[in-house]
Amino acid sequence: MAEEILRITGGQKLRGEITVQGAKNSALPIMAAALLCSGETVLHNVPRLTDVYAASRILNHLGMRCKMEETTAVISPEGLTQTEIPDADMRAMRSSVMFLGPMLGRLRACVITMPGGCELGPRPIDLHLDAMRQMGVQIRESQGKIICTAEHLHGARIPLPIPSVGATENIITAAVLAEGETVLTNAAREPEIADLAAFLNQCGARITGAGEGTVVIEGVKSLHGTEYTVMPDRIAAYTWLCTCAAAGGTVCLKGTAPRDMESSLAVLRAAGCRLGICRDRIYLDSSQPLRSVRYIRTMPYPAFPTDAQALICAVLCTAQGTGMIEETVFESRYKHVGELLRMGADIRVSGRTAVITGVRSLHGASVEAMDLRGGAALAAAAAGAEGETVLRGLHHLDRGYDRFAETFNSLGGIAKRTLISASEREKNALNA
Ligand code: UD1
Repeated sequence: MAEEILRITGGQKLRGEITVQGAKNSALPIMAAALLCSGETVLHNVPRLTDVYAASRILNHLGMRCKMEETTAVISPEGLTQTEIPDADMRAMRSSVMFLGPMLGRLRACVITMPGGCELGPRPIDLHLDAMRQMGVQIRESQGKIICTAEHLHGARIPLPIPSVGATENIITAAVLAEGETVLTNAAREPEIADLAAFLNQCGARITGAGEGTVVIEGVKSLHGTEYTVMPDRIAAYTWLCTCAAAGGTVCLKGTAPRDMESSLAVLRAAGCRLGICRDRIYLDSSQPLRSVRYIRTMPYPAFPTDAQALICAVLCTAQGTGMIEETVFESRYKHVGELLRMGADIRVSGRTAVITGVRSLHGASVEAMDLRGGAALAAAAAGAEGETVLRGLHHLDRGYDRFAETFNSLGGIAKRTLISASEREKNALNA
């Protein structure tokens, strides 16, 4: 079978201005939450991603109508009858689990299977299911299917053992049409949760505290449709900043929310990049040599995000000195490291810790994206490397980036997406 690859010619300093895409991790739960509304939902700033198309497929499968035109999604609820999401759609992405709360809220029933998504170590959904049980949902498993029914969906006091983003979102979306009040403590505080709640409140929901540790949801009888603009993608923004940091140059990102990115921006400053912030714009100047950052630990928001770990890892490959990263959110999130080693990086991984010693420069190589952010990190590293990098596994990039190569090239990078045949692929693999 033929495969698409991305050829990146390294060593071009980046220069220019781009508008950052809408947030994947906000658009996906909001699309699922549109299921709760009895009228039409119009969403703007929806990134054009395979994950978004998968969410749209699920909505259409359930009997609703979801149409995407450029970055606008129009979702109409008429025809919502199905309560089961096919296994193939569940496996397509982790966010398929975001349909659990809305389906239970609206239909009081839902059949799902285990969701797929990036393999970052075990990604159970026990916290989601436990919370649903506390709200009166009966759950049984049969032949790999998780069958949920809720004759009486009611509010509850739910203390989350760990602040899971997805569980927080599912509890909110199940609670908005449940009877009575739900009080969620130790909730995740990621900005995308506040965005989801802002959308739901605009539809008539009563949610307070979203984006903080305690969220209170007062159930209402119904929600109406609305028109809403999805927040900017802070991880996509960080991707372009890290790409410029690695390649050198000066870029300006428009349409960002710098306040949501404080911890990750602080790390780039510590690495020697000069940053300027003016309202929704972030300027980055990477003309000075990079220096290592002694210790970075990924943690739930507002700390340094796990989704940015691979990206900063790529930047620090050529920083002067030695630094350490500790990944505390996911068990196995260093799959990019083996590929960075092929490009000449000096990184040692032990358990959840990576020690990076900066080298003078990386060189191009044939590498493969193993997951979404790891793939973006390889592209960032390639931008600063000597020679050409061939990046495979582009389906991972397409899950999270709206026109990656076009955006990169608009900043003066050189990336070309091409189709190669199976025999060329084998030849490349032998030469790698
Ligand atoms: C979301 C983001 C993902 C990000 C992650 C952490 C979306 C679509 N995805 O993923 O990009 O990397 O937050 O910021 O928004 N856990 C359990 N049981 C559960 C649920 C989670 O043990 O039922 C564990 C996970 O294995 C993980 C930790 O909790 O170790 C955090 O996961 P969680 O916050 O739920 O991440 P996601 O919502 O899957």
